[in-house]
Amino acid sequence: MKKPFTIAANWKMNLSFNESVEYATKNRDNFISLAQKKDLTLILCPSFDSLYPLNKMFTSTAVNIGAQDCSEFRKGSFTGQVSVESIHALGCTHAIIGHSERRKYNHENNKEIAKKCDQLLDLSLSPILCIGEILEEYEAGNTLKVLEDQLKPLKEIIEKHSPLELSHPMCIAYEPVWSIGTGKTANNNHIEKAFSYISQWAQTIDKRDKFQLLYGGSVNEKTIQTLCNIKELNGFLIGGASLDFQIFEKIIDCVLETP
Ligand code: PGA
Repeated sequence: MKKPFTIAANWKMNLSFNESVEYATKNRDNFISLAQKKDLTLILCPSFDSLYPLNKMFTSTAVNIGAQDCSEFRKGSFTGQVSVESIHALGCTHAIIGHSERRKYNHENNKEIAKKCDQLLDLSLSPILCIGEILEEYEAGNTLKVLEDQLKPLKEIIEKHSPLELSHPMCIAYEPVWSIGTGKTANNNHIEKAFSYISQWAQTIDKRDKFQLLYGGSVNEKTIQTLCNIKELNGFLIGGASLDFQIFEKIIDCVLETP
C-alpha cells in the first residue's frame, strides 16, 4: 500500500446521537492515539446531528471529523439539507459524497454529486467521493465503464479548482456496491484494475499525491490482510467494522504493519 494512509470510518445511521457521543467519549483517548500514528490520517464520519459534539471533543487533536453528505447548493430554500458552509463552520475537514446508499435511496445522480464536490472544494474541504458498480454491472464486466460515467462530470469541476490546495488530499473511494455490508470482497486483481483506471484518471487532472485512493466494502479483521496488498491503494473507507473500537484498531494495526 502507498503511504501516507487514510482511514475513514463511516458510522452511517447505525448510531443514534446518544450512542455516537457515548462511543466517541468512551474511546476518545484511543482514537486520539490512533490518529497520532505515523503516516495515518484518521477521519470519523458520524451522522449530521453528532458533528458538533464530536468536533468539540476532538478539537486540537489529530482526529478529523467528516460529514456523511452535504448539499449540492450553497444556501437557500432546501428543506432538510445541510450546507458545506455549516459543515465547515463545525470544524469538519472532509465529507463523503456519492455513497451508494445515497445513490440508491436518495436517487442522487453523478451531476448532483459533482455539484457537491464543487461546494466542498469551494471551501477547501476534502471530498471522499464514492464510486463503484452494482452486482449486475460487475457480472457483466462493466466496472470500468461505470467508473468512467461516475467520474465524467467530476473532471470539469475538479479542474476548475486545480491545482488542488487542500489541507488533506481529495479521496476517491472505490466501493463495489455488492461488497458493502455483505462480507464479500472482489479479488485484488479486479480492485487493482479499478484503481489503475482511477489513478490514471486522477493524473489527467492533478498530481497523484493530491488524491488518495481508498477501498471500501466489507473491510474487516478477516479481509484486511489480503486487501492491504492492493497496488495504488492509500487506505480504506470502513462501515460496519468501525463501530467496534477493538476491531477497528486491529484493522488499522494491520494496515500499518503491512510493508
Ligand atoms: P461496510 O461499509 O464496511 O460495512 O461494508 C462500507 C461503506 O459503505 O462505506
